[in-house]
Amino acid sequence: MRAAVIERPGTPVRIEDLRVDDPREGEVSVRMLASGVCHSDLHVRDGDWERPGPIVLGHEGAGVVESVGPGVSSPRVGDLVALTWYAPCLRCAACQTGRQWGCSDSPSVRHRMADGTTRLHRDDGADVLAYLSIGTFAETQVVPATAAIPMPDGTPPEVAALIGCCVSTGVGAVTKTAGVESGSSVVVFGLGGVGLSAVMGAVLAGAARIVAVDRVAAKLDVARDLGATHCVQAGDNRQETRAAIVDATNGGPDYAFEAIGLAATIEQAIDVLPPGGTAVLVGLTPFGVRASFDVFPFVDGSRRILGSNYGFAVASVDFPRYAELQLAGRLPIERLVDRRIDLDGIEDAFDRMRRGEGLRSVVTFGA
Ligand SMILES: NC(=O)c1ccc[n+]([C@@H]2O[C@H](COP(=O)([O-])OP(=O)(O)OC[C@H]3O[C@@H](n4cnc5c(N)ncnc54)[C@H](O)[C@@H]3O)[C@@H](O)[C@H]2O)c1
Ligand SMILES: [Zn+2]
Ligand SMILES: [Zn+2]
Repeated sequence: MRAAVIERPGTPVRIEDLRVDDPREGEVSVRMLASGVCHSDLHVRDGDWERPGPIVLGHEGAGVVESVGPGVSSPRVGDLVALTWYAPCLRCAACQTGRQWGCSDSPSVRHRMADGTTRLHRDDGADVLAYLSIGTFAETQVVPATAAIPMPDGTPPEVAALIGCCVSTGVGAVTKTAGVESGSSVVVFGLGGVGLSAVMGAVLAGAARIVAVDRVAAKLDVARDLGATHCVQAGDNRQETRAAIVDATNGGPDYAFEAIGLAATIEQAIDVLPPGGTAVLVGLTPFGVRASFDVFPFVDGSRRILGSNYGFAVASVDFPRYAELQLAGRLPIERLVDRRIDLDGIEDAFDRMRRGEGLRSVVTFGA
């Protein structure tokens, strides 16, 4: 089985042939069909985050269930499943109160199965981990059954894959974390897979003004097609960018979403808020990055900052809902896919992402 492995964070992807064990109790084997390249993979590739290795990257994938281990009633063999990168333990307080995105005992953070072992091995017997327990840059993976969510009939595999990360993260940040009301004004900083999903979420929520911000002009055109009402090309002059956003939102947006993960744009998302406004932080920085803001006006104006992990996704409920919206033509997730690559193309896709080029690259298997 071929998979894209890094030895440790900060080292390049290598394609390796790995052995995959059969699924054990509570696990399923998935033949991967599609896997998007997300900036969180790039963070690991570039060494921004400490992670164990060697590890198969990829966490935005979908495939078909090939076999199930003992005790698994869902999913079933043959199901198309989207994979969640935050498999819920279903036992902790967060899970029991329906906040699975905050699960305190998810196996995913250990990059192993729930029993602490891995199903992937090199020929010499050495263990290889799976990023977030799903490592979707692989032809086949064994994953926790709770990570494999059956999708509605007819869902395109690429759409299912993107629901696994950027769509749930961006749409959910708007509709679930922030609960954007119809008629609101929204600004989205950063128009990658996550930010464009936030734009689509704002359309779905009925936001009246949707201001899309990116450094790259081509991203603004896509955002406009998806329903952004105003576009601002961010340059080096932060005050100009700020003025354009404030102007487009009649004094500042009700909600500002940061979907890049830079201190400067996080600070700007807070800085553009009018009194009562909310900044929702979605982009992830390298470890240790700090941001600051002017405290007096923030408190005096009753502003808010919210952090949003995984768009507050409850995968088993939200993934099929997002797919149904796509099938009904109300969430054009397919528009995010602009390149299909094979595993050998991942390093190149990372390069393009570093330059801000293109939309989602998707690894398609066996195509
Ligand atoms: N919170 C979560 O649960 C969660 C989930 C998935 C991804 N993320 C994070 O979200 C972020 C975005 O992910 P993505 O896959 O969409 O990334 P991406 O690289 O595809 O998109 C980032 C966009 O930001 C733009 N950009 C970069 N610097 C900019 C600047 N200074 N001003 C304006 N625009 C700028 C780029 O041109 C690009 O369009 C990453 O940090 C990722 O790790 C968070
Ligand atoms: Zn991701
Ligand atoms: Zn839990």
